[in-house]
Amino acid sequence: MTTPITVAHLTDVHLGPIAGFGPRYWNLKRLAGYINWRRHRRGAYQKSVLDRIVADMQAQAPAHVVVTGDLANIGLPQEHINALGWLRSIGDPDNVTVVPGNHDIYSRVGADPGTHRWAQYMSSCAEGAAYCGGGADFPFVRLQGRVALIGVNSAVPTPPLIAWGRVGRDQLSRLAGILDRLGSEGIFRFVLIHHPPLPGQADTARGLRDARALEAVLARHGAELVSHGHNHEDTLVWCRTAGASVPVVGAASGSLGRHYKSEPLARYNLYRIDGPPWRIELVGRGLAEPGGPVVELERRILAEA
Ligand SMILES: [Fe+2]
Ligand SMILES: [Fe+2]
Repeated sequence: MTTPITVAHLTDVHLGPIAGFGPRYWNLKRLAGYINWRRHRRGAYQKSVLDRIVADMQAQAPAHVVVTGDLANIGLPQEHINALGWLRSIGDPDNVTVVPGNHDIYSRVGADPGTHRWAQYMSSCAEGAAYCGGGADFPFVRLQGRVALIGVNSAVPTPPLIAWGRVGRDQLSRLAGILDRLGSEGIFRFVLIHHPPLPGQADTARGLRDARALEAVLARHGAELVSHGHNHEDTLVWCRTAGASVPVVGAASGSLGRHYKSEPLARYNLYRIDGPPWRIELVGRGLAEPGGPVVELERRILAEA
């Protein structure tokens, strides 16, 4: 046994306001997204609520914070700049890891660096790079003690009203190798992805197009934990593998301050990881009612040593 490591998971914070929506970035997709944000989402995803969630999270003193995408709304450069400022307010890149969501890589940004601005928060650490084979941005690997954070990108620009994702063959192939190399050294493999990774977790217009292929990679090469966002729901499903089944955990938005559709209110998850052999405790904290305090919502064991 080694010292337990606590990792906090926050997702889909959808930071406002939307700024910098100039003619250069206008198109039908962004216009539809902007109208939706003005009418509905602007009042629902609240920075003041997110600030309280983050304050509570930091009071738990996690060793690392992971953010699984949708920091932005319509993928504008100014949103990426604002999100970088927010990331810096959470912590430095050694302690915070991000993967992009479909609202971050939303539509064309031309020559603008877009989400590459977040590179310090979504690239391999020096030790982790040795497991990646070099060259590509994703997946990246960051080591936190005996825990490897593996960042997968599922976000691709899509047509209006479509929010699907795709990992792609090249990334899947690299992921297989990474999982094998880390697994052979007994390192805890914590996979981070925006879209729900398994078939049937989201409908065709919103789901991962190659979920079946990703499921096959996870099943064959193994992982210890997968966390995702996108659905704005608290979910736990299991991916069967040749070894133990892998918990796949989705979390609600980190900033939802009032009832909106059927989404649960703002929340984040803490994973207390101990081992090997690996024990995982999940603690969910968030709002039980609009305007209420941040409280413990759930506590469960996902893996028992
Ligand atoms: Fe989202
Ligand atoms: Fe999303």
